Amino acid sequence: MKLTTLVPLLLSCLFSGVSAQGIQISACTADQATEQTKLNNARSAWQRSAVNYYDYNWSEEYSGVNSAVYPYRVVVEVSTVQSINSQGQLVTTAMTIPQILDQIQSYLSDSTLRVYATYDANYGYPTMYQYMNSACGNVSTRRISDFDINSGNRLSAYNTNKALWQRKRWNNYDYSYQDYVQYKDAAWPLVVQVRNTLYASAQDHNNNQVLWASYNGQTINDFFALIKRQIDANVPYLEVNYAATDGYPTAIFYVTAGSTTIYAVEIFTCYAV
Ligand SMILES: *[C@@H]1O[C@H](CO)[C@@H](O)[C@H](O)[C@H]1NC(C)=O
Ligand SMILES: *[C@@H]1O[C@H](CO)[C@@H](O)[C@H](O)[C@H]1NC(C)=O
Repeated sequence: MKLTTLVPLLLSCLFSGVSAQGIQISACTADQATEQTKLNNARSAWQRSAVNYYDYNWSEEYSGVNSAVYPYRVVVEVSTVQSINSQGQLVTTAMTIPQILDQIQSYLSDSTLRVYATYDANYGYPTMYQYMNSACGNVSTRRISDFDINSGNRLSAYNTNKALWQRKRWNNYDYSYQDYVQYKDAAWPLVVQVRNTLYASAQDHNNNQVLWASYNGQTINDFFALIKRQIDANVPYLEVNYAATDGYPTAIFYVTAGSTTIYAVEIFTCYAV
């Protein structure tokens, strides 16, 4: 066994040992007055942070059982919530962070329930919240992860980033990307050459030219147009991430009305040549 394998194994034994000794807190042992104080502090931190546009993953484990539909990916714009589950189905039960804080409050105010939660130190959103009945049974543990803060709503993010991209005036560039839905047979990721603003060529990850009859080579501008079409169509789920300084999209996920296919593209690198 290699040392690199052994060290994490030893560490995991150490930590599971700690929880086996009962040091790990759960809703069964957590002091409820302390939980109320933590919730109040978290609510203040959230209000101070003034975060209005954000995305997060949400999952629930009910009495030790994980459902295959998790995580839900949730996109919030002030009080508008969009969400899909891991199978691409729209979720209508997803909530904003203030709604989740209210829900934790309702569990805390219910004398038949016990609650334990952890919150992000800076922003105050819950990272984990758990509740159970007073007999410490029927445990529901919910987790929030992959929390991203966005600078504005999807149209303003699109406008800001497209302007950033256009200011670069890159007529010749290479980018690498993966399309997770179309062209599944390909050796991804592909590297694409754009020359004089037009698609020129692409290679798969074995460095073979991409010459498939159905392949539709795209430019970064084509991806921007694709995003704009989804915004204009007000699709039921859209999440886009952009490169911080160059503005090109780094990830595009969306579901069109009536579909359960998550369109998913990631752009890994893009550079002028
Ligand atoms: C968050 O959700 C996305 C989309 O469903 C998934 O690809 C990613 O693995 C999730 N991350 C975690 C930590 O669960
Ligand atoms: C969990 O809930 C079910 C349905 O309400 C109940 O029958 C069962 O006794 C509960 N289990 C525990 C351990 O409290």
